[in-house]
Amino acid sequence: ATDLTVLGIETSCDETAAAVVRGPLQKQILSNTIRSQIDEHSEFGGVVPEIAARAHIEILDRIVAEAMHEADCSWEDIDAVAATAGPGLIGGVIVGFMTAKAIAMAAGKPIVGVNHLEGHALTARLTDDLDFPFLLLLVSGGHSQFLLVRGVGDYERLGTTIDDAIGEAFDKTAKLLGLPYPGGPHVEKMAARGDVTRFRLPRPLLDRPGLDMSFAGLKTALRTQAKKLEPVDEQTVADLCAAFQRAISDVLAARTRSALEFFQERHPDTEPVIVVAGGVAANQEIRQSLLDAANAAGARFVAPPMALCTDNAAMIAWAGIERLRQGPVDDMALSPRPRWPL
Ligand code: KG4
Ligand code: ZN
Repeated sequence: ATDLTVLGIETSCDETAAAVVRGPLQKQILSNTIRSQIDEHSEFGGVVPEIAARAHIEILDRIVAEAMHEADCSWEDIDAVAATAGPGLIGGVIVGFMTAKAIAMAAGKPIVGVNHLEGHALTARLTDDLDFPFLLLLVSGGHSQFLLVRGVGDYERLGTTIDDAIGEAFDKTAKLLGLPYPGGPHVEKMAARGDVTRFRLPRPLLDRPGLDMSFAGLKTALRTQAKKLEPVDEQTVADLCAAFQRAISDVLAARTRSALEFFQERHPDTEPVIVVAGGVAANQEIRQSLLDAANAAGARFVAPPMALCTDNAAMIAWAGIERLRQGPVDDMALSPRPRWPL
C-alpha cells in the first residue's frame, strides 16, 4: 500500500471541522481544525438544528482553508476528499457533504461519503497499533452503543440504548438541576463534591441479559428524588450528581464485562480489546470503571486522546483512507442520510 493524503470534513452536529491526514502507513495528522458552536446553542440548552446548519455554512470554507494551510497542502497534494454523509442533523450533513463534493469535483479528486459512526469506530487505528477485530463502546451525546468492529465496513452492533444516549442523559440531568449546557462536565464537577451514598438510583435493564442499555429512567428517578427536597440546595445537587454518575458507571462497567465475555467466546484466539469513543469518555469515573472492567477480563483498554474521541474531522479523513485502501471509492452519487445505522 502507498500513503494517501485525504481532506476530511465533519459537520453532522455542532462542530465544524476539517482535517488533513496522511496514511495508512504514516498515520500523520497534518492538521485538525475545529470550531465548536456551543456558544450559539447554550442559551437554548441544546443543539438547535437550524442554527447549526447556518453556522456550518458561514464558517466551513474558512475552516477548510485553515486545515489546508496548516497542513501546508495545495489541492494537488490531496488524493481524495472524505466527508460525513450521515447520520446526524441533516442540515449540517448536507452543508458538509455538498461542500466536499464541490471541492472534489473542482479538484478532480474522488469523494468518500463517510458514516460518522464508522469515523468513531476506526479512530483508534489511527492513534494506536490495533488490528481487527475489537470492541468499541461509543458514548456520546447522540449515541450509546457496543460495536464489534470486524473490519472496514464490517460492523456488528451488539447493544445500544433503548432510549436516551448517555451524553443526552447527562445533559438532561444537568438541565433539571439547573447546571449549564453541555451538562456532562458540570455534572462531573459537582459529583466530585457529592456524597455518593445519600441517594440510591436504579441500574436500568441490568437485570436483563444482552448488551442493551437504558438511561431515561435514571433521569426520571433523579427528578422524583429532587422534587421531594425542593428547593434543592447545592450539596443536594452534588449528591444527586454523584449518585447519577455512579449509576451510569456501574451500568457501563457491567455491560463492558458482558461485552468482553461475548468477545472472548466469539474470538477465543484474539487478544480482547475494548476501545472507547465519544464525548462521555472524558468522564474520569466512567473511564476508570471501564479500565477496571477491562483489567478484570485481561483485556486491553484503548482510549484515544480526547480531541479524537469527540467529534472531529481527522477521524473522517482516516475513515476515508481506510475505505480507499480497500479499493477505489467514488460516492458522487451518494445522498446525505439523517439515519444511517452501521
Ligand atoms: O462526542 P461528543 O463531543 O458529541 C456528540 O454527541 O457527538 O459528545 C458530547 C456529549 C455531551 O452530551 C456532553 O455532555 C458529554 O458528551 N460529555 C460528558 C463529559 N464531557 C462531555 N459527559 C460526562 N462527563 C464528562 N466529563
Ligand atoms: Zn460523534
